[in-house]
Amino acid sequence: MWNPDRREVLQLGLGGALALASGCGIRRAGSIVAPDELHDRGSPPDHHLIERLADPFCGEGRLERIVRSWITPEPDFFVLNHGRVPVFDEPARYAVEIFGHITTTRPLTLARLRSMPRTTVEATLVCAGNRRREHHAVQPIEDPVLWTGGAIGNARWTGVRLVDVLEEIGVKNDAAHVWLEGHDTGVDGRFGGSIPITRIYDRDAPPVLLAFEMNDRPLTPRHGFPVRAIVPGFIGARSVKWLARILVATRPSHNPFFLRNHHWRDGEGGIDQGPIYELRTNAVICTPASGLALRGPVTVSGYAIAGDPRATITRVEVSTDGGRRWRPAALGKNVSPSCWRGGYLYDGWSMIDLT
Ligand code: MTE
Repeated sequence: MWNPDRREVLQLGLGGALALASGCGIRRAGSIVAPDELHDRGSPPDHHLIERLADPFCGEGRLERIVRSWITPEPDFFVLNHGRVPVFDEPARYAVEIFGHITTTRPLTLARLRSMPRTTVEATLVCAGNRRREHHAVQPIEDPVLWTGGAIGNARWTGVRLVDVLEEIGVKNDAAHVWLEGHDTGVDGRFGGSIPITRIYDRDAPPVLLAFEMNDRPLTPRHGFPVRAIVPGFIGARSVKWLARILVATRPSHNPFFLRNHHWRDGEGGIDQGPIYELRTNAVICTPASGLALRGPVTVSGYAIAGDPRATITRVEVSTDGGRRWRPAALGKNVSPSCWRGGYLYDGWSMIDLT
């Protein structure tokens, strides 16, 4: 479907206006919190992000900070919200509904999830619109959120494997897609989408998780507390936060966010090539910052992602003369032994000393 020789346009539409009725669409213990309670626009108290949109809050990591550590600390981890952050003041009453083409059903409470066998995976989350600012410079994109390269972060996620949940409840033979929907409400209603069920059963790739911890601590509200999906190797949009419902279906999701946003577009007319799932290989220079005039020896640091849940980056080359000569970068050693086989989309920070 995707042809690397042709021009693709990643389209991520973030609406400016929002449906903001208090409690709209949020059931049980959920309520809406104003964004100012989450961040102070002037001097963010609890994160180091560059704000790209105030409401709903979207912020990217500072390149010079995110390149410092293989595991991204939560305060440096980008945030992309399509609606305001739902807050669950009674997590004991929280449950994810599962329905559709299944054979039994049981409410998936937080207590039940925490009692099931847990798995930890290191996985990088990347927004499909990462580097949109550079893209915009080449071909203008109508979108209020022009990310540089900081809409990315690598974390240790702990939760229950979705395959275990599906195997426990039993899935009918015709099931082909799993729809995921959050508790938050944006311009198009609740945020959601779907992933092919084959990804959930793919034993060669890191498992899809219903995660409740990030970097060994409970998820923070902005990253999906109490429970979010983590789909290693797929664009961040598929890792639905504040999970409300899981629907096992024969067809892909009808959620408007899924139908309209994050699709491959091809050719002059931007013909829709279908939803984006897997990432593409990419490498980003984080330091020195873009546009600086430099003198003397310089260390270039950045990150590269493999763009396939099963693959890893084995080589990164850097050019300092406009692409005439390329020199191999030394790849960072921080690759988790537990993920080498699946190969997370993220394969370590690469660095080259050009002296
Ligand atoms: N899930 C819900 N419920 N609502 C959202 O707005 N944004 C998605 C995804 N999951 C989103 C969501 C997108 S586009 C991305 S890139 C990731 O969450 C970002 O996750 P983060 O904010 O934890 O970094």
